[in-house]
Amino acid sequence: MPWKDRLIIALDVDTADAALSVVERLGDDITTYKVGFELFVSAGPSVVQRIREQGKRVFLDLKYHDIPNTVAKAAVAAARIGVFMFNVHASGGFDMMQRTVSAVNELCVREGLSRPRIIAVTMLTSMTNDVLKNELTISHPVKAHVRTLAALAQKAGLDGVVASPQETAMIKELCGKEFLVVTPGIRPSWTPPDDQRRTATPQEALRDGADYIVMGRAILKADDPVKALELVSLEMLSA
Ligand code: C5P
Repeated sequence: MPWKDRLIIALDVDTADAALSVVERLGDDITTYKVGFELFVSAGPSVVQRIREQGKRVFLDLKYHDIPNTVAKAAVAAARIGVFMFNVHASGGFDMMQRTVSAVNELCVREGLSRPRIIAVTMLTSMTNDVLKNELTISHPVKAHVRTLAALAQKAGLDGVVASPQETAMIKELCGKEFLVVTPGIRPSWTPPDDQRRTATPQEALRDGADYIVMGRAILKADDPVKALELVSLEMLSA
């Protein structure tokens, strides 16, 4: 896969116009954009359509986490608006994930749609062992929890997981190289970690086997986003 198709830019902005102006500014180098809560709730599903009209793919990052029936129906809605990829929380459980996959498969066969990749969030990259232990009273460490959730997602028929760069190699070893790993929490050496806790550079993430990397602030908040993108592309190519 060329580097362009592996880099997903997070459109963490609050209007469709702001999103479209990023898409225009970054031009041909970027093929895939992530639409998350802020943009989707502010601008609505039509923003997905507008980004697609620019010839771009959309990763809908709404991290569904609800009862199986509700998530399966929301997943069908995502497939209908033509997203390339969307995600659910693995901690929603096996039944929730399995019903989501079968509802989407059925829809896509019935209506001749291309089937989006369905991936699961294991643990948010902002979480730490301390948060797990002291706030959620989960006694095993992040890595063990990620392993359990990745294996569960694979068993339920999902295409892959979202995971921190530091867990990529472990997941590939556990689930095989075909199982997709999408990694946010990417910080080139010249940017601060912000609220992310388990970060890696683009080069490290790809070397560890990530299929896709997600970058937001390191590009969008750079003084010159186009220049930042160029530097990131060089890092990615050197991996
Ligand atoms: O600005 P930054 O590069 O940290 O943005 C990362 C993006 O990836 C954000 O949109 C965030 O919501 C998303 N994300 C994440 N951790 C996950 C899943 C998604 O940071 N586990």
